[in-house]
Amino acid sequence: MLCWIVCCLIWLISAFNGSCSEVPPVNNSVFVGKETENQILGIYLCIKGYHLVGKQSWVFDLSKEWNASVPECHMGHCPDPVLENGKTSSSGPVNASDKIMFECNDGYVLKGSNWSQCLEDHTWAPPFPVCKSRDCEPPGAPVHGYFEGGTFTSGSVVTYDCEDGYDLVGTQTLQCIDGEWNSSYPTCESIQEAPKPAEQTALEKAILSFQESKDLCSATENFVGRLKEGGVTMEELKYSLEMKKIKLKADILLKGHS
Ligand SMILES: *[C@@H]1O[C@H](CO)[C@@H](O)[C@H](O)[C@H]1NC(C)=O
Ligand SMILES: *[C@@H]1O[C@H](CO)[C@@H](O)[C@H](O)[C@H]1NC(C)=O
Ligand SMILES: *[C@@H]1O[C@H](CO)[C@@H](O)[C@H](O)[C@H]1NC(C)=O
Ligand SMILES: *[C@@H]1O[C@H](CO)[C@@H](O)[C@H](O)[C@H]1NC(C)=O
Ligand SMILES: *[C@@H]1O[C@H](CO)[C@@H](O)[C@H](O)[C@H]1NC(C)=O
Ligand SMILES: *[C@@H]1O[C@H](CO)[C@@H](O)[C@H](O)[C@H]1NC(C)=O
Repeated sequence: MLCWIVCCLIWLISAFNGSCSEVPPVNNSVFVGKETENQILGIYLCIKGYHLVGKQSWVFDLSKEWNASVPECHMGHCPDPVLENGKTSSSGPVNASDKIMFECNDGYVLKGSNWSQCLEDHTWAPPFPVCKSRDCEPPGAPVHGYFEGGTFTSGSVVTYDCEDGYDLVGTQTLQCIDGEWNSSYPTCESIQEAPKPAEQTALEKAILSFQESKDLCSATENFVGRLKEGGVTMEELKYSLEMKKIKLKADILLKGHS
């Protein structure tokens, strides 16, 4: 019995092989890990009142000399709060469950929560907001179109127009409101846009495949599939069908006269 305990201890000691001393110590932290054949995998956890700066998870190769920079545990249970282009109600080290408030500088608008709390797990929740400029990025312009208006500050308005021969489709006037345009810009579409020959043949094919199918379900499936293959949109389809209807009516009228 005694031998069993001693043998077991010897086995433990040899298996242990001083590997714990291989993990670089970090002040105010505990290391939680597991040892595999010749590696230790684990994470550093800072004690209450401290937060980690640097990499948390590590793989230590026991056969190699250790030389990378170790993480550190800094004062403050959560990382010190920083808000770009804004202010926080506390900037120094914080304790667990401390709550802070956010405010943006003039010319910036707060996007997100205006408060956050330091949790037991050393993270902030809800996540920090961002302070976004109230100015807008220059808006885009559609193909065959342009806009008038040179300032993009909050409240500014730009007006769109199309080149001759193109119709404006969408909102003509956009307003910058707290860094965002109130709508997407319009498009310019060619007046009297007729389906191109390729589209017509795609449509013909689609109709043909509809007629070839045995039942309505597979017929519709084939029809839609052919349309997609041919790159025909629903708008173009409607247009083509309207044209066919008009032609049909014209034919009937002509026959009536002849
Ligand atoms: C401890 O590990 C080192 C390097 O991995 C190895 O050279 C040595 O033989 C081991 N010692 C024992 C007692 O297993
Ligand atoms: C860790 O703490 C000890 C004792 O307080 C101190 O001497 C040492 O400089 C500290 N190490 C680091 C990396 O801060
Ligand atoms: C550690 O040392 C090895 C071998 O000397 C080297 O290749 C590696 O870049 C070093 N790593 C760091 C972080 O210095
Ligand atoms: C954090 O707690 C420590 C004592 O645990 C206290 O001295 C300190 O004032 C607290 N800090 C804040 C910001 O409440
Ligand atoms: C924070 O936001 C809430 C609503 O989201 C608002 O009622 C409250 O007044 C704000 N607090 C501050 C200090 O801005
Ligand atoms: C955007 O603002 C302009 C100018 O105030 C207005 O004419 C337009 O209707 C607005 N668009 C939307 C989608 O609210």
